[in-house]
Amino acid sequence: MHFLSLFLVLNTAFCFPLQIRTNSFNAGDAYKSVLNSTWDLFWNEDHQAFNLNDPNCNSNFSNTAVWDLAVVGKAFFDSGDANTTQKILTELYKYQSPSGWFNAQLNQGESYTDDNAQIVWALLAAYDVTKDDKYLTSAEHLVDLIQGQWSSIGGIIWQTGKTYVASISTTEAALAAVRLYKYNQDQKLLDFAEQCLAWMEAKLTNPSDGFYYDGLDENSGNINKGKLSYTVGTAISSYAYLHKFTNNDTYLDLANKKATAALATNSSNIFMNSDGGWNNSLKYVHLLFAGIADLIEIGSQSQYSQKLVDQGNFVYQFDQLSEGDYADYNSVKTLADHYTSVTGKSSGYSYSASVYCNGTESEPQRSVLNQGSAAQVFYQVNRISS
Ligand SMILES: *[C@@H]1O[C@H](CO)[C@@H](O)[C@H](O)[C@H]1NC(C)=O
Ligand SMILES: *[C@@H]1O[C@H](CO)[C@@H](O)[C@H](O)[C@H]1NC(C)=O
Ligand SMILES: *[C@@H]1O[C@H](CO)[C@@H](O)[C@H](O)[C@H]1NC(C)=O
Ligand SMILES: *[C@@H]1O[C@H](CO)[C@@H](O)[C@H](O)[C@H]1NC(C)=O
Ligand SMILES: *[C@@H]1O[C@H](CO)[C@@H](O)[C@H](O)[C@H]1NC(C)=O
Ligand SMILES: *[C@@H]1O[C@H](CO)[C@@H](O)[C@H](O)[C@H]1NC(C)=O
Repeated sequence: MHFLSLFLVLNTAFCFPLQIRTNSFNAGDAYKSVLNSTWDLFWNEDHQAFNLNDPNCNSNFSNTAVWDLAVVGKAFFDSGDANTTQKILTELYKYQSPSGWFNAQLNQGESYTDDNAQIVWALLAAYDVTKDDKYLTSAEHLVDLIQGQWSSIGGIIWQTGKTYVASISTTEAALAAVRLYKYNQDQKLLDFAEQCLAWMEAKLTNPSDGFYYDGLDENSGNINKGKLSYTVGTAISSYAYLHKFTNNDTYLDLANKKATAALATNSSNIFMNSDGGWNNSLKYVHLLFAGIADLIEIGSQSQYSQKLVDQGNFVYQFDQLSEGDYADYNSVKTLADHYTSVTGKSSGYSYSASVYCNGTESEPQRSVLNQGSAAQVFYQVNRISS
């Protein structure tokens, strides 16, 4: 389940390209370091599960949402490590209900199509590690369920049984379908992905930048105009795969248009801040990295490589709390101060007690979702730079 964080489209007066960016970090090492720290901090052997709480702040254990588990799980599966993969898969299946849907929270009945699309990607990555058909079969079954959520006005229903049709569920469903196609070559999956994306372009796209609005209600038709980077990231990935599988250049053009807009250093690009770093919470932005990395690798568009490395370096340089631990630079006091001392600019920091252990500014809380996202960011950058 994603958080509907509608943000206002504000523009800063001027934007500058990255100034001090070299390949000063090694994305592969950064990736391994995040996985290492995440496992040591958040994996709880007694519960055989990731802990929602930072153990430094709260000695109680809580289970995470399935979204968090899908993000951190895929980050581990992509590493190819069989032991952690097996343990995480065992945890993941505890969220599955008899209907086949994976629930948003352990032992609760609500399910979301975007969670389940992410689980499809994770299961396919787990299949690559294990070669166990069980995971491929689960992924196929989930894609069937997701396809059944096509709404009466088009697009994919966000929460099963409800009426909101979200961009994120529609673009993630398309990406689940094209990723699955690689394994079973079922032409209907490509047709479905095309249908999802064509609907997005027709109904929820802002023509000026090619970015998507958050979604709309099936009954009222009211559009929520918030824009988040992950819907664009997942669409870029989907188009890169569709182009590869169909050879239709329209898909490559659409992917390039969105990637160019997401990387543009002009003041109308709401996804970028004045220092050239992507302006979206760490916990969401990995999907934009994945989109551009897919476009570079699957779509052979190497013109974005240096810019993606620069974006990864931004996360490494400004979001790093300590070796292998990451949080948003503009939400944590020490990171915000560091950002300002390096760039001479305001970070926009304002105090929020929930970011810290016991509200103490010197004790930032870590989260498994930020960790999973940071790991995926570095995995994607390493993928295109090695
Ligand atoms: C992480 O690194 C430390 C220090 O190298 C090591 O002791 C620990 O076993 C590693 N943890 C994992 C989960 O690999
Ligand atoms: C936060 O408060 C709890 C409960 O009072 C305490 O156990 C814990 O050590 C504190 N954590 C930090 C980092 O101060
Ligand atoms: C931990 O759980 C206990 C028992 O449910 C509760 O009383 C306590 O407030 C919890 N501590 C924190 C830091 O949430
Ligand atoms: C995986 O687990 C097995 C059994 O516990 C152990 O022997 C092996 O060293 C582990 N491998 C890695 C890479 O940690
Ligand atoms: C390529 O895809 C676009 C968008 O789906 C479609 O309109 C067009 O007919 C396709 N072109 C070919 C040659 O199939
Ligand atoms: C960055 O995103 C935040 C919300 O996530 C938004 O309030 C702000 O206006 C954005 N900044 C720019 C430069 O677009």
